[in-house]
Amino acid sequence: MTLAAPFSPPSRPGVMKILRKSNGTFEILSLPGDADLERGEYIVAVEGKKALILEVIDIEYADIPGLLEDLLRELTLQNASVSLFDPHKIGSVTLAIRESKKIVSKLRAVLSEGEVKSSSLWIPSRFSSKIRRISTNEVLRHVRGEPLIPIVIGESFGEQLAIDASELDSSLTIITGRKGTGKSHCTKVLLYELVKKGCYALVFDINGEYCGLGEGKKGGDNEISEKVVVARPCVNFKVGLETIGLEVMLDILEHVFATPQNSLREFARLWESLERERELTVENLLSEVRRAHMNEAIRDAILSRLQVVFSSGFIINGDYDPIPELFGSREDGILVVVDLSRLRPMIRRMVVEYVLSGVSQHLSDGSIPPLFLVSEEAHLYVGETYWEDIVTRMRHLGISPIFVSNQPDSIPETIYRQADNLFLFNFLNENDLESLSKFSHVDAETVKSIAPSLEPGQTLVIGKVVGNIPVLARIRDIDAKVLGNTKKFFKTLETKIQ
Ligand SMILES: Nc1ncnc2c1ncn2[C@@H]1O[C@H](COP(=O)(O)OP(=O)(O)O)[C@@H](O)[C@H]1O
Ligand SMILES: [Mg+2]
Repeated sequence: MTLAAPFSPPSRPGVMKILRKSNGTFEILSLPGDADLERGEYIVAVEGKKALILEVIDIEYADIPGLLEDLLRELTLQNASVSLFDPHKIGSVTLAIRESKKIVSKLRAVLSEGEVKSSSLWIPSRFSSKIRRISTNEVLRHVRGEPLIPIVIGESFGEQLAIDASELDSSLTIITGRKGTGKSHCTKVLLYELVKKGCYALVFDINGEYCGLGEGKKGGDNEISEKVVVARPCVNFKVGLETIGLEVMLDILEHVFATPQNSLREFARLWESLERERELTVENLLSEVRRAHMNEAIRDAILSRLQVVFSSGFIINGDYDPIPELFGSREDGILVVVDLSRLRPMIRRMVVEYVLSGVSQHLSDGSIPPLFLVSEEAHLYVGETYWEDIVTRMRHLGISPIFVSNQPDSIPETIYRQADNLFLFNFLNENDLESLSKFSHVDAETVKSIAPSLEPGQTLVIGKVVGNIPVLARIRDIDAKVLGNTKKFFKTLETKIQ
């Protein structure tokens, strides 16, 4: 990649100096006032036509020889209220030295004659290189160029920040952080912009908070109103028994309802015979199970489960297939929100199992377009077997998964290893931070230093969407109704009092 623009000369002589380097970590010495940098900000060390791009991850006091003695002398003098005679005015210099700071930064890229070299061993001179602050956008211009499909997600150190949406496409993205730090909000911003650009997406909405994405804050329409479809399982979202098919039905009975193998075999036999006779209906299945000759324990096992499955009202008679209908209504992008919030856990898993298999099948025969699949807290409704399936087979078929979770250890290690993008929100807990170090696009030290200091709404974006350099961003707001806030007792009380 070539340099977008030559380096502008530093506005004043560099007053930061490289102190030492160990692997990818550079320690930079700076005098007071020059170190008012923040975690996540970028600095560049330029020498001739080469430059190091470094990201600040921490600021510490510099270790100065004799500092302890100095501090003690200062204490003693302050105590005795003695002012020192300083005829040569060296006091301010000494003060500056004593107040010097050490900026801990990580190497993100080496630019050499306009090209990005990731494995270059070049390091600049400690004495003559010029170090200055550089904006996130300038860094991105150098390492990534202009984004192919920009979507503005917020700002980075005062400048608008656009990620490259083309790098979300057919990628695996993880959004994680503590509760209440802005993960769902960030997901909504991404979906809002993607759908606006004509993409297709499906959200498993466990808290019922995405249903308002098509409504403006003040209640009217917003830019995506016509593209948001809320699918309420068992209400306006049902599937025909013939459409669901024996294979998916067996998967549901086995994985969701833990049906024993011998019961599954009996069930399959009854299903096939009803299907042959073109008599496959919910009622006939139940009465066949009651009537057929079989072991009582096997009968009970099937019957009790089928009653739960059918009493939900999600599966109806006939060959009604809701998926092409959901995605086929527009040519310019659709967001399907599957509202799982009012379902019992078993039914929720059953719906998800059906949707995943239905979507895969329609993707493989080309009857629906490739889509983004958003799952929040997927461990609550996605069986063990499906994690692998989503990231391997289903991704191949055209699904770009976005996993959102406040429990990073609930996401299997293989998912981290394969993830292309990570939106990291605040985490304080050591164990949570440890789980994240399995994500291979960033070093553990950066994560452990930056994640605990992130404010609500602030995220560290890592991965292909930002040219593989970690970028700190403050997520913007969108004109959509915020739903799903936890109902709080004291808040209710407060409103009553007012
Ligand atoms: N960037 C933002 N701009 C405006 N409001 C935000 C932003 N990020 C989060 N919020 C608000 O803060 C609250 C918590 O955010 P949310 O995304 O639900 O957190 P999480 O999903 O991490 O638990 C919500 O009410 C949300 O609307
Ligand atoms: Mg949330």
